[in-house]
Amino acid sequence: MTGELSPIDKAKFVAAKQAADMVEDGMRVGLGTGSTAAWLVRHLGDRVRDEGLRIKGVPTSLRTAQLARQVGIEVITLDQAGTLNITIDGADEFDGNLNLIKGGGGALLHEKIVAAASEEVVVIADAAKEVGTLGAFPLPIEVIPFGWTTTQMLVEELLVSADVMGRRITLRMNNGKPFVTDEGNHILDLHLSRIGNARQLAMALNQMPGVVENGLFVDLCDKVIIGYSDGRVETRDINEGTVSQDRIDLVENDNLFSDI
Ligand code: 5RP
Repeated sequence: MTGELSPIDKAKFVAAKQAADMVEDGMRVGLGTGSTAAWLVRHLGDRVRDEGLRIKGVPTSLRTAQLARQVGIEVITLDQAGTLNITIDGADEFDGNLNLIKGGGGALLHEKIVAAASEEVVVIADAAKEVGTLGAFPLPIEVIPFGWTTTQMLVEELLVSADVMGRRITLRMNNGKPFVTDEGNHILDLHLSRIGNARQLAMALNQMPGVVENGLFVDLCDKVIIGYSDGRVETRDINEGTVSQDRIDLVENDNLFSDI
């Protein structure tokens, strides 16, 4: 069945499998959002069913919560969990310091809160997500619907003096209507091409009235697991300064693929 996966899905599959194997019995686990994180949830569901792994999952979106329940993971709220042992999530971009752009799936607000509540944050990604400098992927910011055009104008003014290359801003749409996040907000995508100082921009954006959160994750990620379509996985640990290589068998497993 894995033979039917595209090379990019194989890469996501193996990165997610490696991360799922880091999860231990009894852990409270932050569950990310997106196609790579969905593989993680399926792998964890597999371990719950086959090994009797007992974990409590805190999903970062309604769709991740739905999938987690489907595959048999016990779902709790972040308030019930308090702190988390580990969060595993995807990313739209990561750089050499493991700073990230997230929010391509529109879940950046919950993802950032869950990451901040975690002892360890692990990003799972295919190699195409690695960049020298963040910014090629449009930076999502979550804004409240009230006065969002005013918020956009304020952000445009902010960008004039920011260390970025592009300044175009678009309102994210879904089926002809503004996209609505799980918190009922909208997303503005900032087409910046290159972000010279991610930390500074992240702080400045969050000071704008109307901006709830931005998709720059600075100093939040501890490890990145990069998957390749041939089964190779590379784990980089920013705290230890280590890089390790491994290989995952792309084994056929009908349970994992039943909901695709
Ligand atoms: C959702 C996210 C995702 O992690 C990010 O968009 C990556 O998604 P995918 O794994 O589908 O490439 O930040 O808000």
